[in-house]
Amino acid sequence: MKEYNIAVVEGDGIGPEVVREGLKVIDAASEKFAFKVKTKKFDFGGERYLKTQEVLSDEEVSELAKYDAIFLGGIGHPDVKPGILEKGILLKLRFDLDQYINLRPVKLYENVETPLKGKGPEDIDFIVFRENTGGLYTGVGEFKDKGTADEVAIQSMVYSRKQVERCIRYAFEALKKRHENNPWKGLTPEQKDQGFYAKLTLCGKTNVLTYVFDLWQRVFDEVAQEYPQIVPDYCHVDAICIYMVEDPKRFNGIVTNNMFGDIITDLAAVTQGGMGVAPSGNINPDGVSMFEPVHGTAPSFANQGVINPIATILTAVMMLNHLGEVEAAAAIEASTKGVIKQMKSMLVGKMGYTTSQIGDMVVDGIKS
Ligand code: IPM
Ligand code: MN
Repeated sequence: MKEYNIAVVEGDGIGPEVVREGLKVIDAASEKFAFKVKTKKFDFGGERYLKTQEVLSDEEVSELAKYDAIFLGGIGHPDVKPGILEKGILLKLRFDLDQYINLRPVKLYENVETPLKGKGPEDIDFIVFRENTGGLYTGVGEFKDKGTADEVAIQSMVYSRKQVERCIRYAFEALKKRHENNPWKGLTPEQKDQGFYAKLTLCGKTNVLTYVFDLWQRVFDEVAQEYPQIVPDYCHVDAICIYMVEDPKRFNGIVTNNMFGDIITDLAAVTQGGMGVAPSGNINPDGVSMFEPVHGTAPSFANQGVINPIATILTAVMMLNHLGEVEAAAAIEASTKGVIKQMKSMLVGKMGYTTSQIGDMVVDGIKS
């Protein structure tokens, strides 16, 4: 029997509650599909920091690197100054484990309400490939004359060709795998006739960021040559925001830098029904990947059973797919779709069920 070792970081706020539901469905799926999941919990997060002043040590990162995957709830604490835990835990893990892709599927499920008027599941189904270890997030910058009237602050968007290339290549490769035998439905008849099966949009700002996005565009064009059946597309980040709302159907895959990816995936998450349903994966294709719902820790809603665990359950689906347990992942997703149909809303406290009831319902669906 296959066995997976999963490091579990519940984190703060609502983290433990949603992780509990995620693990519950993974357990049920592992029983049905005959594999074993061994979990070990790590208490990194705000509570530990407040008690011990420890954030996350290099030794602890090395320990996590031994696992098959990391399952994370949420990191952030109202009593800790913003930045300490985010940088010290979440970003440190992404960087040190070289999880260079932040994978954010954007899919509107049947019966989920979207704020986009007149749009349905057939309109919203794409993947954002966010570069996850570079750009503005590297912390390169400085203050000059800090505290004076002439103060200047600099934060640099730094990208190496290698970083850009591996990200873009991952996006093309992922779309190839997804669509070579199952062409994307949004292609024009002409594109279909020409043998295209997918479309990848580079999201940038080539009209202003003339160094960084010049590099991205050149690398994109080069790599695109190797994928002659994927339509290469470009869109400025501001225009992406327009189209994501007006005409999301035009997107199949979007590849972008770290900062734009952070911003557009929050917008995208809202279109797919909000933070209650948005999953994500921090992927190192050659190492250890980490899976986390896009939402944060929502401390004011903790321990009331009002939080929607669907985002975390869909995150578990991503993790199992990544581990190769595709049947189990498909079964959880199918069951989740059924449960979503029974829920009144995806919003906090309006679901018609408690957090753990939703987990139980997904489990029932897997077993049946
Ligand atoms: C996210 C979050 C993080 C980010 C924060 C908490 C550092 O917003 O995962 O999107 O900016 O990447
Ligand atoms: Mn974000």
